Amino acid sequence: MDVSTTIAGVKFTGCFMNASGALCVTREELLALGRSRAGAIVTKSMTVEPRQGNPSPRYYGFSGGSINSMGLPNLGYRAYAELIPELKRFGKPIIASVAGLVEDDFPVIAEAVNAAGPDLIEVNLSCPNIPGKPQIGYDAEASERLMKRVRKIITVPMGVKLPPYFDPAHHALMGNVIGRCGVDFLNLINSVGNGLVVDPKTETVVIKPKGGFGGLGGTIIKPVALANVRAFWKHFDGRMPIIGTGGVMSGLDAFEHVLCGASAVQVGTLLVEEGVDVFGRLEAEFVACLREKGYHSIADCRGRLKEL
Ligand code: SIN
Repeated sequence: MDVSTTIAGVKFTGCFMNASGALCVTREELLALGRSRAGAIVTKSMTVEPRQGNPSPRYYGFSGGSINSMGLPNLGYRAYAELIPELKRFGKPIIASVAGLVEDDFPVIAEAVNAAGPDLIEVNLSCPNIPGKPQIGYDAEASERLMKRVRKIITVPMGVKLPPYFDPAHHALMGNVIGRCGVDFLNLINSVGNGLVVDPKTETVVIKPKGGFGGLGGTIIKPVALANVRAFWKHFDGRMPIIGTGGVMSGLDAFEHVLCGASAVQVGTLLVEEGVDVFGRLEAEFVACLREKGYHSIADCRGRLKEL
């Protein structure tokens, strides 16, 4: 069974990888991803300076998923630019995830990290967890300005990681913006921002930052993720490579993402809960699923969701 995939001309031998943020901050975590069955190594979204992130508790797992408000804890772009050449020895694509606290940060980081030679760069327009900083992806004008600025600098395939959109008008608006910016792939979706989980026993929120508000992940967000993958797949008539992220807890979930149009899938909550061994399990389940349905590859079933 062929579980390889190609995104913007870059070949991935496996279609499962970590979502940025999940076990990918430190050198040790990135090396562990390199040794695992993950099809790629995705770095934590990097900022200009190293960050400790938000105060703890800042991640909480529950039966339906997770809520987090990590606040971009990361080593700073200089450290990742040094690490990228070392990660190359694993022979799998490296996706550098670029964030920023203000717009002017993005080109600075993009330039340095691009020079370090990742295979692809993902521009994160969707972190919901920096107090006082709205998600850029919900501002179409700012998103366009920023994507055009970094596009001039980035020489490897450039993707954008977007927040979920909840209305076809917003899919169309952002789809049109993306179409004007030379974007090579999409990563859909970041966590569903600013959810609130309540513990009725203690009558408290479950995470400390932002009064308990945080990004939702895991099973509960799968329908939102699938809807965004599908909407953008259709907007671009299947010609924009999409990495599906959100609610992938099994090979069957991954199959659903592929049916909606994903070329690869990223794993966040499940990876945090179970560790890097999940990639082997997911791949085996995905292969069994394709086999049972008579498909031979991802390309065979990508985007083939039937409508009623
Ligand atoms: C975080 O570090 O708070 C999560 C990053 C993201 O959602 O982009």
